[in-house]
Amino acid sequence: MSTTVHLKVNGQAHDVSVEPGTMLLYVLRDNLGLHGPKFGCGLSECGACTIHLDGQATHSCVLPVEAAAGHEITTLEGLGTIDHPDPLQKAFIDEQAVQCGYCINGMIMTAKALLKTNPHPTRDDIKQALDGNLCRCGTHMRIVRAIERAAKAGATA
Ligand code: FES
Ligand code: FES
Repeated sequence: MSTTVHLKVNGQAHDVSVEPGTMLLYVLRDNLGLHGPKFGCGLSECGACTIHLDGQATHSCVLPVEAAAGHEITTLEGLGTIDHPDPLQKAFIDEQAVQCGYCINGMIMTAKALLKTNPHPTRDDIKQALDGNLCRCGTHMRIVRAIERAAKAGATA
């Protein structure tokens, strides 16, 4: 039997009717049409599904939707648009950090949370923060350089 959950996503309130225990990732993608967060492993092992929950990078594939109620949820769509990308998104473009793109949602959402708490991370800080984010294309070094570029430009907001 479905239940109604109240969510606040990218500043907008939503009532969603879902099966109890449904993971937030599926609700974002299937109920709300937000396809920034990706399904990679479903086991909290790859980072593709990362969103922010009250500003903290969180794996939405293992977060029951009920646990997200009452919290501020931000997805990639809440950061910037094609016409007005977030400075971190622009740094990824400028650094040509994307190959297939599948991991990039998680990389950007994780890096955004890092830069909020640590605006001038060292390369080791960045590598440690991205420890839970896998890239099957092997574009890690360009991703790290993009984050360094954004940090240099002061992209913390
Ligand atoms: S899909 Fe969530 S961590 Fe892999
Ligand atoms: S760019 Fe393809 S998985 Fe990272």
